[in-house]
Amino acid sequence: MRVLVTRTLPGKALDRLRERGLEVEVHRGFFLPKEELLKRVEGAVGLIPTVEDRIDAEVMDRAKGLKVIACYSVGVDHVDLEAARLRSIRVTNTPDVLTEATADLTLALLLAVARRVVEGAAYARDGLWKAWHPELLLGLDLQGLTLGLVGMGRIGQAVAKRALAFGMRVVYHARTPKPLPYPFLPLEELLETADIVSLHTPLTPETHRLMDRRRLLSMKPGTILLNTARGGLVDTEALVEALRGHLFGAGLDVTDPEPLPPDHPLYRLRNAVITPHIGSAGRTTRERMAEVAVENLLAVLEGREPPNPVAYAPWAFSSASSAGSSAASWA
Ligand code: DGY
Repeated sequence: MRVLVTRTLPGKALDRLRERGLEVEVHRGFFLPKEELLKRVEGAVGLIPTVEDRIDAEVMDRAKGLKVIACYSVGVDHVDLEAARLRSIRVTNTPDVLTEATADLTLALLLAVARRVVEGAAYARDGLWKAWHPELLLGLDLQGLTLGLVGMGRIGQAVAKRALAFGMRVVYHARTPKPLPYPFLPLEELLETADIVSLHTPLTPETHRLMDRRRLLSMKPGTILLNTARGGLVDTEALVEALRGHLFGAGLDVTDPEPLPPDHPLYRLRNAVITPHIGSAGRTTRERMAEVAVENLLAVLEGREPPNPVAYAPWAFSSASSAGSSAASWA
């Protein structure tokens, strides 16, 4: 029985598959073009894809005996869940293990934007640093600011905890209010109130371009937008406009399109800090994600219930944009 793993994974988790007698084929390149994926998936009973691989009906039909798609991600909108359901293929993901790492990166982006860290580092490296000055590179003091979290699942809550340690006030919006010690606000009110807005919702047709031009401009002038969830939540063109005056800045770990082409206008804006979708990229986190994906895959192949099954969702896969996206209903 053969398992296809679409990228090399950190750690030793894949050894477990070999110990169980499975043949493990790992794609070693940085990219896996669709044509090659289609060829390599033939005959596989298990597939471990990353957020870069769009797993649609065509891929599933090539792998006639495919039983499980064990995503190496918490987000699953790169998988056509309806097509999987129709073919009785189980889909699993890797929640929990990446919560803290993603929350850490959200705070890293917040600090980088608010205190102009990337700009300051470039200023020093480029030889512009000639003297200390009271008005050099003034940024935002986090203490006392209001952080508005849009989506309050595990990652949103982990970001909230960190924000409290920085002396920030936390408000949130989610589909439904939760029993949490932070005020719930309707989305429009949150956007008008918060000094920082951080997105933590999955990408679904309902949340696609949630931050459109109108909503971006309804954020208070001089605020910060953070996105460590999915690029498709934000209208990128409108964001570029909003960053040219309305917003203080943006910290983006995900973009639409993803990756951004090197000549994209976002890269030319001093107040945009962009990282290449590295929210979960702590070594230990990425090793744990591999262990979780392997456990899910083995469980299905051995006839056990996997620890992290993904509920088949009724929405249309093709309407979600950009590489990678998140699971199920938005928290
Ligand atoms: C996920 O897990 O969905 C991230 O985007 C990649 O770790």
